[in-house]
Amino acid sequence: MQLVRGTGRLSSIRGPAALGAAEGLRTSMAESHKLAKNIGAIVMRIAFIGIGRLGQTLARALAQQGQNIVAVAGRATAPAVALAQQIPHCQAMMPQQALDAADLVFLSVPDDAIEALTSSLNWRANQAVVHCSGATDLQVLQSARAAGAQVGGFHPLQIFSDPERAAVLLRGSSVAIDAEQPLRNTLLALANGLQMNPLILPAGSRAAYHAGASFAASLMLSLLDEAVQVWSAIGLPEDAALPALMPLAMGTLQAAQSRGLSGALAGPVSRGDVGVVAKHLQALDALGGAHGDFYRELTRRQLSLAQRSGRLNPEALARLQRLLDGQISE
Ligand SMILES: NC(=O)c1ccc[n+]([C@@H]2O[C@H](COP(=O)([O-])OP(=O)(O)OC[C@H]3O[C@@H](n4cnc5c(N)ncnc54)[C@H](OP(=O)(O)O)[C@@H]3O)[C@@H](O)[C@H]2O)c1
Repeated sequence: MQLVRGTGRLSSIRGPAALGAAEGLRTSMAESHKLAKNIGAIVMRIAFIGIGRLGQTLARALAQQGQNIVAVAGRATAPAVALAQQIPHCQAMMPQQALDAADLVFLSVPDDAIEALTSSLNWRANQAVVHCSGATDLQVLQSARAAGAQVGGFHPLQIFSDPERAAVLLRGSSVAIDAEQPLRNTLLALANGLQMNPLILPAGSRAAYHAGASFAASLMLSLLDEAVQVWSAIGLPEDAALPALMPLAMGTLQAAQSRGLSGALAGPVSRGDVGVVAKHLQALDALGGAHGDFYRELTRRQLSLAQRSGRLNPEALARLQRLLDGQISE
């Protein structure tokens, strides 16, 4: 992707109209790379409003790709000044100034702040604004759209707690893109430059997309927490539990990555070992609380994985199902 610094506008992006070939939930890296090459020269000035964990990460990473980050803005001046000093030709500005100086504005502020912030600023046509929230609908950018700006979403599917380390995480992660053309192609080209895998979100699907992703992120922490709680209830100290459980969790994720979910399945359900599952249930029910029911629900989900793996015969599957439904005890 050839980049030209200067004063161009988003409308100066060149490329065939047929670039909308990236329809569908997932666009492969190869396809995205081709799109970016086809787009050719991008001339645009980018600003970030909101420079917390994600804003800092994205602004730095895009600047390293040679993108023209002209302004960064936050509520406080000092963090913006510190960030601007790390980015060539970038200035710390007030939000409205930053917006005025840019063709493409990233609103990387907390989700609940996006709508009020958008309404408080003066937008113009021939400008684009994207938010970085996973669950929030593009409707929150309506006041910018009403002023003629293009609107979109650019949600990196990764967690960024430490901006210093986060740039490494961008590469190879996915990014959900939700925008009409020509902004969509601009965002695809940016994703390509960052070596991220774009996911094109169907319109109106953001909340379900983000809720689904939560199972692979923060809700995975809830699963680990359940493991720690059960061990803690039998007297295994909490500070020893996580170091013992992490290699197991990592091994499971690595198996899923290389063999797929059903291919990675191991443990008593995958073997049709009804006796072990019955012992688990007795032990967890004896602990009280919701431990047993939580296990039952997750194990029901595992039955369908085991079925898909083709390794479990129908009789074993039916016995496990009856055990989970409380129709047999072993
Ligand atoms: N962090 C992640 O892992 C991650 C991943 C994917 C997507 N995202 C999305 O990225 C967006 C930002 O999240 P984050 O984690 O980077 O949040 P964050 O670390 O809390 O940073 C938010 C930044 O926005 C600033 N801010 C708040 N209200 C503002 C306003 N009205 N005007 C200007 N700046 C304002 C905050 O400044 P103050 O310091 O003054 O409060 C702070 O610097 C969210 O939409 C989030 O869903 C985050």
